[in-house]
Amino acid sequence: MTDGRAVSRAYRASADSAACTAVVGMQWGDEGKGKVVDLLAAEHDATVRYNGGANAGHSVVVGGERFALHLVPSGILHPGCRAIIGNGVAVDPFKLSEELDGLSARGVDTSRLVLSSRAHVVTPYHKVIDEYREDRLAGDGGRAIGTTKRGIGPCYSDKAQRSSAIRAGDLVNRDRLVGKLELARRFDTALADAEPVEAVASKLHEVGQRLEAHIEDTTYLIHGMLGEGKSVLFEGGNATLLDVDHGTYPYVTSSVCSVLGIPAGTGVPGAMLTRVVGVVKAYSTRVGAGPMPTELHDQTGELIRKRGREFGTTTGRPRRCGWLDLVALRYSAMINGVTELAVMLLDVLETVEPLKVCVAYEIDGERTDRFVPDAAELERAVPVYETLEPLGDGVAEARTLEALPKAARAYLDRICEVAQAPLGLVSVGPDRSQTLRLTERAHV
Ligand code: IMP
Repeated sequence: MTDGRAVSRAYRASADSAACTAVVGMQWGDEGKGKVVDLLAAEHDATVRYNGGANAGHSVVVGGERFALHLVPSGILHPGCRAIIGNGVAVDPFKLSEELDGLSARGVDTSRLVLSSRAHVVTPYHKVIDEYREDRLAGDGGRAIGTTKRGIGPCYSDKAQRSSAIRAGDLVNRDRLVGKLELARRFDTALADAEPVEAVASKLHEVGQRLEAHIEDTTYLIHGMLGEGKSVLFEGGNATLLDVDHGTYPYVTSSVCSVLGIPAGTGVPGAMLTRVVGVVKAYSTRVGAGPMPTELHDQTGELIRKRGREFGTTTGRPRRCGWLDLVALRYSAMINGVTELAVMLLDVLETVEPLKVCVAYEIDGERTDRFVPDAAELERAVPVYETLEPLGDGVAEARTLEALPKAARAYLDRICEVAQAPLGLVSVGPDRSQTLRLTERAHV
């Protein structure tokens, strides 16, 4: 008989020495996580997605080639690194299959992709429901969430609803698919004119057979790796202020995007995280509806959008742009237990003058430095700004922290002071060489 306690002790000893890193967006998404994840993936044995679905997206440039990834974790681009889609992800199997084909055609070994048998499946019906609801809400006094229409909300609704939900492991069972899809149609009026059940079941079954070799229990897989002392990187989709519990509800996505989603979305306890890298854009952006206290509706906003190429990777929509909101940042750092910061797109602010950051809100005449995640309350927040010295020229050309203009360093110091976390990395341009890694001050 095995001594359970000895096994458990040995497991803990190896697992405790294993690097368990999380990379998480601190704002409303599009902070530049792709670049950070790609950099760190090379130093880990696996990258794991724990939330969201094809609503997220980033492009990574490797060897001069641009890869657009929506569902497949970035680790796939690094030989020897496992790419794992955890149980918390809402997976569109057609998109996943397409993405894998695209990667294979470009010579990437996709056999390293593993999909949790318990990840929920986004079906064509979920996309119909998402679109149906959004269109009607938009016509109903402009109350739409501004979703990506990728079926994310309806998929997670089904997960909570249970009876008609489909998990990756169900894809190979055609009868089960038919039964679930019939239930979905029976209960949702949005599906009245949707494609017949038989046709949808056949398509899902077919793609399920294509994905079958990738499907397994990822919780045991990840714990097995940790038990062997391997390092694992958790890659957050979307971002903290879009978190269904801690974001600007109801203008959020439907999953737990902060690091709090890791335990539920992968089966790995939060206490095992050894590093949490909070990725923050040097200014704010937001896609879709919902409050954004520091939004700029003027030429400065336009300038930031143009310089930062702020158009959505997934939907191509222009992003709303504004000043950095330090109230929101401090809140995100607190929720995520951030151990180091990666500040992205600093170069975009180079020519921006005057330069402001939001340090507090005034709500109904009262000043506060607390973030208010309730959307209706946040709508009433009037930002209190601090004006900082313009960053100056030479940000994009700097290759060390010391080479940055003095005002740029002061800007970074202010961010770290408020977030109460050290700086691990600064990005001053899209190129890999434009990444300043501060190895002496932090780990990134
Ligand atoms: P959904 O995730 O498609 O339901 O969209 C809900 C909200 O989250 C919308 O405002 C989207 O624009 C936003 N959203 C979802 N994913 C991302 C992302 O990866 N980056 C930025 N915004 C996102």
